[in-house]
Amino acid sequence: MDKLQIRGGKPLAGRLKVSGAKNSALKILAATLLTEQPVRIDNMPHLNDVTTMIELLGCLGAEVLVDEHLSVEVCAGNVRSLKAPYELVKTMRASFLVMGPLLARFGAAEVSLPGGCAIGARPVDQHLKGFEAMGAEISVDGGYVQGRVRERLRGADIHMEMVTVGGTENLLMAATLADGRTVLRNAAQEPEIIDLAQCLIAMGAKIRGHGTDTIEVEGVEALHGAEYRVMPDRIEAGTYLAAAAATRGAIELIGADAGTMGTVLERLRAAGADVTCGDGCIRLDMHGARPRAVDIDTAPYPGFPTDLQAQFMAMDAVADGEARVTETIFENRFMHVQEMNRLGANIELVNSSTAVVHGVESLRAAPVMATDLRASFSLVLAALVAEGTTVIDRIYHIDRGYETIEEKLSLLGADVARIR
Ligand code: EPZ
Repeated sequence: MDKLQIRGGKPLAGRLKVSGAKNSALKILAATLLTEQPVRIDNMPHLNDVTTMIELLGCLGAEVLVDEHLSVEVCAGNVRSLKAPYELVKTMRASFLVMGPLLARFGAAEVSLPGGCAIGARPVDQHLKGFEAMGAEISVDGGYVQGRVRERLRGADIHMEMVTVGGTENLLMAATLADGRTVLRNAAQEPEIIDLAQCLIAMGAKIRGHGTDTIEVEGVEALHGAEYRVMPDRIEAGTYLAAAAATRGAIELIGADAGTMGTVLERLRAAGADVTCGDGCIRLDMHGARPRAVDIDTAPYPGFPTDLQAQFMAMDAVADGEARVTETIFENRFMHVQEMNRLGANIELVNSSTAVVHGVESLRAAPVMATDLRASFSLVLAALVAEGTTVIDRIYHIDRGYETIEEKLSLLGADVARIR
């Protein structure tokens, strides 16, 4: 199993190009199932999760072409299976997002229940209630969700009981081909949802209100092919900015969208970072200073993203002062705390959703283990700050969501190597 070996103590410095957003790319790939015509997707990140989604599309019968620039063209003209098997869904929950497109276009789908994962139980009840409201018959048998539609999904007024990114996306995709008008209330407002909606609109969908908590969709008979460019990854951008702040460095991110990162940039400024934004670029300079501790409260967009909580906690671990970190989205997203404490951090778990971080001057290298995608990078970040050589085990988690991590960190001057 691959490990990352990091010799810490160097400030990150340099320029970096931000990749396409994983959490948008995966949904846009699922959306290609809504049309029989080819959809070309540019700025696709090179990630294991993307490969898994492409594998799933292939297993349903879609033809997928990847060119040398990592643009992907999907043609779902000859779909021959409506079953998303357990083997693929269990490795990546986003696979469940094929359910809406399959039900909408083919009137049937059989998708493995994703089950829980390291960060929490993560049920899909809101997705299923929404499909039922649109006229689908849903049953669960043998770990699979079976969906059937008599003729065509019909538009419905759906109020989601909590803000769910995946639920909003699955129902949004389903609604594009439903008969009549669908209103999604209490919808998630994440930039990735806007990106998905814009891709669907390019494919001929009629959508309004994306980016607000009420999305209206007028169903159409069919969608058509399109070419679409995936938005920049705001979580990857925020991760490298936090790493630069923690190491007292100075970096410039190219191809980043500051407009999607308001709360994150505000927290970095509160930590003492000098942040400036230009056209498609974000610069951060700590001017050699230690970051100040900043409280973090995760919340649905436009609040602070749960996907950056662990990385900001690592920054707080070496900051001046004490910070309170509150996780409100997932019930088990503090697994990095114990590992960070092994590196000499002083983090107290008050309860399952609150941690208090007492900033320390420096961390010390130790062997640590990655537990989930974002937590893994928080350990990388801590290792970049720590004195000595840290080995991080189980980094396959990182490869799911961070493109060419060693190359990118090396470009910024970090001493990092992948070992077996
Ligand atoms: C998406 O997950 C992201 N994944 C996650 O990123 C991200 O952490 C999360 O949104 C929140 O921003 C992808 O986009 C592939 P949710 P998703 O539905 O859609 C509960 C990463 O590191 N809930 O918004 O699965 C759920 O248990 C990943 O890149 C229900 O109870 O998240 C959770 O507590 C990790 N019933 C909360 O809502 C439902 O039917 C938010 O989940 C659906 C969700």
